[in-house]
Amino acid sequence: MVINFQKTKIMKKYIGFLAIVFTMVVVITTASFKDGGRSGLQGAARFASDNGAKQLFDTKCNICHSVKSSPESMTAPPFFNIKKKYRAVYPSKAAFTKAVADFSRAPAKSKVLMPGAYKKFKLMPKMNFDQKDLEKIADYIWENDFQKPVWYK
Ligand code: HEC
Repeated sequence: MVINFQKTKIMKKYIGFLAIVFTMVVVITTASFKDGGRSGLQGAARFASDNGAKQLFDTKCNICHSVKSSPESMTAPPFFNIKKKYRAVYPSKAAFTKAVADFSRAPAKSKVLMPGAYKKFKLMPKMNFDQKDLEKIADYIWENDFQKPVWYK
């Protein structure tokens, strides 16, 4: 009887311990979801299902706009620069994304905000981008920071 009594006591302690561990796991998981899932495993998952925006941006825009090792090897202005210029002229997200998407859909001299880039690289070629893709891309550009080229003054 005595032994049995002690066993129940140990069981109770054990169950109590499990309950505490369980609560901690729940709290930690909820906390990492609350930060927008930017940290840890959830962060990686979010990145992968990022609307496909990053992949669109990399394949449709950065093939020309990516930062190269020197200004001479650039084929188009870097997005660090484009974002700075467009944000200065279009401070709200709505106006900014609209301007970026509009220019990309139908580049025209009259829309150019970067006369230096226009002179150096000539007008961006007109490509048949999908409007939905352009909206995702413009949103992605607004939401993310871009690397400042080391040679950028
Ligand atoms: C084939 C190469 C190429 C691709 C692909 C390309 N661009 Fe460009 N882009 C250029 C060049 C060249 C310029 C410089 C002309 C200029 O600044 O007017 C430019 C300039 C720009 C500008 C600044 C225009 C200004 O002067 O105000 C924006 C904004 C822009 N691109 C957005 C995009 C976006 C968004 C994508 C992807 C959807 C994209 N580009 C894809 C070549 C490209």
